Amino acid sequence: MVIRDNDWLTIALPKGKLFGLSRSLFEAVGIEAEGLEEDSRKLVITNEEKKVKFIIAKTADVPTYVEYGAADIGVIGKDVLEESGQDVYELLDLGFGRCHLMMAVPAADRRENLHDYAHTRVATKFPHLAEKFFTGCGMQMEYIKMNGSIELGPIVGLSESIVDIVETGTTLRENNLVEIAHIMDASARLIANRGSFRLKFDRIHGLAEAMKAELAKRQK
Ligand code: PRP
Repeated sequence: MVIRDNDWLTIALPKGKLFGLSRSLFEAVGIEAEGLEEDSRKLVITNEEKKVKFIIAKTADVPTYVEYGAADIGVIGKDVLEESGQDVYELLDLGFGRCHLMMAVPAADRRENLHDYAHTRVATKFPHLAEKFFTGCGMQMEYIKMNGSIELGPIVGLSESIVDIVETGTTLRENNLVEIAHIMDASARLIANRGSFRLKFDRIHGLAEAMKAELAKRQK
């Protein structure tokens, strides 16, 4: 495929748990850039030959870069994508970064029914998803938006419960919290700006197909 100048592709990668897995998937389909490290102080890493720019972004900002076209494509967890409500094209479930969003409470303060927690405080990084869930259960809650270490909420008396992501369950166990409601499953997604997807269809579609083939190969 001939790559013209306007075929430069800008890719937003999230810092954190998905960074290394995303980078190695791009590498496996032939897209790499020297110096692409999570802790790089340089935030845009370019490969002139392949006409690719990587943006190293805060996780929650990836959908913003992609929706506004500052990045053509990006990798983001389905949980963060849903919470952002941003309008992007979801191209592919990458299968890694599997986790789920749930409600947890201190084991020592476990109440009999979910509805026994109505009108209490929930600490969460996901207030929109939490509200959608509780509203669906017919419950009104008070939401306390936090930016990390959500498990602290009930321990320090900030909230009665949390809504957060669980991957291995270690953080819940170590903080004597128990899951009482499953809200949604999540995994990493490849997303695209809607305009970029039309304008750079061959390249983006080709890349998604190559990733799909690579993921299928890994499953064998
Ligand atoms: C996430 C999540 C939990 C933890 C769950 O936090 O918010 O705290 O991972 O993982 P586990 O089930 O494997 O223990 P993250 O590490 O992203 O950092 P944060 O607390 O700053 O959000």
